[in-house]
Amino acid sequence: MDAMDKRFRANFINSVTGYKSANLLGTVNQEGVTNLAVFSSITHLGSNPPLVGFITRPTVVERHTYANVKTTGFFTVNHIHAAIIEEAHQTSARYDTQVSEFDATGLTAEFIKDFKAPFVVEAHIKIACRYVNEYHIKENGTLLVVGAMEDIYLPEGIHDTEDGWIDLSKARGVTINGLDSYAEPQLLDRLQYAKPDTPTTSILKK
Ligand SMILES: Cc1cc2nc3c(=O)[nH]c(=O)nc-3n(C[C@H](O)[C@H](O)[C@H](O)COP(=O)(O)O)c2cc1C
Repeated sequence: MDAMDKRFRANFINSVTGYKSANLLGTVNQEGVTNLAVFSSITHLGSNPPLVGFITRPTVVERHTYANVKTTGFFTVNHIHAAIIEEAHQTSARYDTQVSEFDATGLTAEFIKDFKAPFVVEAHIKIACRYVNEYHIKENGTLLVVGAMEDIYLPEGIHDTEDGWIDLSKARGVTINGLDSYAEPQLLDRLQYAKPDTPTTSILKK
């Protein structure tokens, strides 16, 4: 792998671990300039308390999302869906600090209540997060940023009101393959909580 061309390795290694979550992180700086960036490393860390984590690349160049999260203490997580993949991808371009990716891409920023980070109006599933902690990954200089969920906004009718499960396909949520590809997954089944000696059965309400 060391012998691979840099770009080739980036594509190859970013794809090989499987499909990743697709989110736009919304933040604002001290001057009030909003920022939006696509992240494929947002992951669930635990549900009690509800925590998310994301990996930010080494801060050897300006990282607006990270800088804003550190300054304000807040960020939003907005799921990318099929109708906004081009705009979402464009947010990865290196815009100047004074330029808002909302303006550059045409996505709409919305501040809800007095939460100190912008949400994406066009997104269907949105999470308000508060910075909690960060961990330096010394092997490659990246940072794992930990956030606490403060609020969740969902469209009506996409979650199971009895057990809480969210049907992401109803929100047309996409997944990221590598660094430049977006795919729309299809629900195959929902299976019962697995127990030894118990057959695997479907619990999907049809
Ligand atoms: C599909 C995709 C996924 C990405 N995921 C991440 C990620 O998980 N972490 C990260 O630091 N950058 C990631 N990036 C790069 C950022 O989107 C890019 O560096 C962006 O300019 C950061 O913006 P900011 O400086 O406004 O935070 C990703 C880019 C693409 C295209």
